[in-house]
Order: sequence, then C-alpha cells, then structure tokens
Amino acid sequence: MPMEMAGIAFAMLAAGLLLGVFLGRRRTDRAAEQPDLPVEAVFSGQADEALQKRNAIFAKVFNLVPDTLTITRLSDGRYVEVSHNWETLSGFTRAEAIGHTSIELGIWAEPQQRVDLIEILRRDGVVRDLDVTFRHKQGHLLYSQVAGSLFESEGETCLMLAVKDVTAQRAAEQEIREINQQLEERVQRRTLKLEQTNAELAQALETLRHAQDELVRSGKMAALGSLVAGVAHELNTPIGNGLTVATTLEHRLQMFVGQVHAGLRRSDLDRFMADAQFATEVLVRNLMRAGDLVRSFKQVAVDRASSQRRQFNLQDVVSEIAITLSPVISRSGCEVQADIASGLELDSYPGPLGQVLDNLINNAMTHAFVNGQRGLIEIRARDLNADEVQIEVRDNGVGIPANNLKRVFDPFFTTRLGQGGSGLGLHIVHNIVTGVLGGHVDVSSQPEAGTVFTLRVPLRAPESAQTL
Ligand SMILES: Nc1ncnc2c1ncn2[C@@H]1O[C@H](COP(=O)(O)OP(=O)(O)OP(=O)(O)O)[C@@H](O)[C@H]1O
Ligand SMILES: [Mg+2]
Repeated sequence: MPMEMAGIAFAMLAAGLLLGVFLGRRRTDRAAEQPDLPVEAVFSGQADEALQKRNAIFAKVFNLVPDTLTITRLSDGRYVEVSHNWETLSGFTRAEAIGHTSIELGIWAEPQQRVDLIEILRRDGVVRDLDVTFRHKQGHLLYSQVAGSLFESEGETCLMLAVKDVTAQRAAEQEIREINQQLEERVQRRTLKLEQTNAELAQALETLRHAQDELVRSGKMAALGSLVAGVAHELNTPIGNGLTVATTLEHRLQMFVGQVHAGLRRSDLDRFMADAQFATEVLVRNLMRAGDLVRSFKQVAVDRASSQRRQFNLQDVVSEIAITLSPVISRSGCEVQADIASGLELDSYPGPLGQVLDNLINNAMTHAFVNGQRGLIEIRARDLNADEVQIEVRDNGVGIPANNLKRVFDPFFTTRLGQGGSGLGLHIVHNIVTGVLGGHVDVSSQPEAGTVFTLRVPLRAPESAQTL
C-alpha cells in the first residue's frame, strides 16, 4: 500500500495547501473555538465569494478522500478538523474531537509513536507510510499507516494527517507469518524424521551387507566342506580297492608259502607270479589314483583356504579342479570335457578362480539337466590377446529364461529356494571375477539350447585386488 499512501499523501498535501490558503486569510483558532462548526462553515460568511467556493471544494475533498484525515495544531495538539470517515475509524464524533488533543482522547496506543511522528515532521516537514497503533474509542487496537505534512498558517504550525486502517492487512500478514512458522516447524520436524529414518535405513543396509559378507564367507566354507566330503568319498574307492587287493595278495602269499613247503610245482609258481603281478598292478593304479586325488585336493584346498596369488598354468589348475570334482560329476552322470589351450600361464589367484569354475560346473550339474538327463559340460580356455584369457563354461541343458537371465548374478536369486539353493553361487562368481581377478563375467542362454558363462580374465591379476 505505500504507493497508495503516497498518492493519498499527495492529495492530502494539495488539500493542505488549499487549507493553507484559507487559513492564511482566516484564523485557525475559529474552529477550535467553535468545535461544532462543520468544516464547510468554518470560513463561510467570513470570506468573499471566491474564497467561500474554494472553501467548499476543500471541504468536499477533505471528506471525500478514502483515507481518514485530521488537522491538528502542532503547538497544543488540539484537533482543528477531522473528516467524516475518521469518526467511523476512531469511534469518536467530530464534536468529541475538535478542540481536544489526541492524547486526551487516548487515541495513541503507544504515545511514544506520536512523539516520534512529530520529530520526523519537524525534521523533514513530511512523513510517509509510518506504521502506528491507534486505540478505538471502544478500546480495541487499530493498526494504521499514516502520512502527514506540516503547514503554516498565520504563524501557527498545523499538521494534516492521513490515516489508513491496515488492521485487517496486519492480521492477514500475522496469519501468514504464523502459517509460515507452522509450516517451517512441520518441515523441520519432517526433515528430522526423514534424517532419522535415513540413518536407520543406512544402518539396516550396513547390517545387511555384513550379513551378506558373512553368508558369502560361510558359503565359501560350505563349498570347501562339500569338496572335502566329495574327495573323502572318492578316496574310499581306490584305497578300498587297494586294501582288498593287498589282503588278497597277503592271502595268496600265505598259500604260496604253504605250496613251497609242500613242494612247489612249476604251474603253482607261474600262477602265483601272474596273480602277484595283477595284484601289484591294481594296487599301484589305485594308490596312484588316491595320490592324484590327495595332491589335487591339497592344492585346491590350499588355494581356496589362503586365496594366495601365485604363478600357475591354467591347464594344471583346471585338471586339478576336474579331478576334485570328479566324484560329484560321475554321480551326476554328466560328462565334463576340458579344452584348455596349453601354455596359458597366469599370475593370479588359483583358489578363487577354482571356486568360480567349481560354482559354474556345479550350477550346470544342478540346474541345467532335468529328469536325470546326461548332459555335456565343456570348459574351454584360450588367450584373447597378450594380456587376457577367455574361459567359457558351457552346458547343453535347459537354459535360463530371459526374465531370470538379468537376475542370476543378484545375491539370493535362486530357482531352488527351499531345495538347497542359497542364490549366492553366481553372486560369489561375479564378486570374484570382477574383484580379485580383475575381469568380467557374462552369461548368455537360449531356452533348451544351454547356457554359456564367459569369463574374461587378465593374465596378471590387478595388484590392488582384495581377496574375499
Ligand atoms: N547352468 C545353468 N543352467 C540353468 N540355470 C542356471 C544355470 N546356472 C545358474 N542357473 C540359474 O541361476 C540361479 C542362480 O544361481 P546361483 O548359483 O547364484 O544360485 P543357486 O545355484 O540357486 O544356489 P547356490 O549356488 O547358492 O547353491 C539358479 O537358481 C538357476 O535358476
Ligand atoms: Mg549355484
């Protein structure tokens, strides 16, 4: 509203000038002496006709301006004139006001504001858009904006004041302020709650990660455990065979000793020699098989347990893994074929790499072949360039539906929930290949046409790689 106030102040100043003209001719005291005299009559009959006309115009302007107007004498603060709408605003009648001061009427809710107003007027001669608080005759407060100007008349300084009631505006502003405040408080409360929820979520996520790591670790241990069980089972056969043959040989030797004492025939000697040769051959074959198993398992177990980096030949590591997995493979009825290019020397982590192949072969055996179907699992490796090797694990099984294909590396994704599947196998594969081995892993599959997992692994694993 300041613009409006300025406009009104301008009108008021014009009216003030007009009044100045009148007061220049007539004494301002007259109105104070005759408080009931309407403004139209203050000067009527006292001036010439032209003056009376101007006086009438002024009186009209004075009462037409939408803001309330008052004229007071600066020396004693008495009202000289008030407009009609000032009566409505203040609750006082014109008769009650003229000749009295605003202090006497108790108009100023904060009298100091009047002192400040006068000070500004004395200094600048004019005041605009000043916020003050008046008190209505009934006692309630009137928040107002005033504009005023001093003018001289016959040596008397008078003040014309335009008052605009802004109570409703202030109340609305106050309401907006309160709503804003409430809104701010609500936003603050919500933000706080959100931050707390975020913190709780972050903590829950952290706990979940720990749990996942723990599961991955225990998954590794479980895999090692099942490997031990498989190898122990497989060792049973050659050692058992060996024991049977050794026992038979022992028995055959005792028989032979008896034959020697009784008088050895040439044919007895020939048969014994043939039996002994056969037995020793079987013994050696079985013990060598056991030795192979133990050696391979030892290497795989050491690699797995320590996750040590070392130089190794890929063919050796794959055949060691194939041997350690052979018990499970033969039970599944699948055939595993390895086609590994010779001379692929890696400086990497054979344990984790073995675990990757182990998981992929196990997955093929578990998921790819249904109804006891005897499938083919192929492991192929060749160098891609001077720095990288590509390893494929391929099966000719049922394949993976397109919907599942993009989720197989997600932790806990399994189609064998409740049937021994944890859904961590391929997640571990992904972690190892992209983490410690510093490579990539991809899967492609066609329904009923099998699945291929393709690893691309550097011959030299990255230095900074962390083992799981
Ligand atoms: N060779 C495959 N043929 C068909 N489906 C496969 C093959 N490999 C993986 N899958 C699918 O991918 C899913 C996820 O495999 P992943 O190894 O992560 O978990 P899992 O084998 O179910 O459980 P876990 O390995 O923990 O015992 C499997 O449940 C299966 O549906
Ligand atoms: Mg698996």
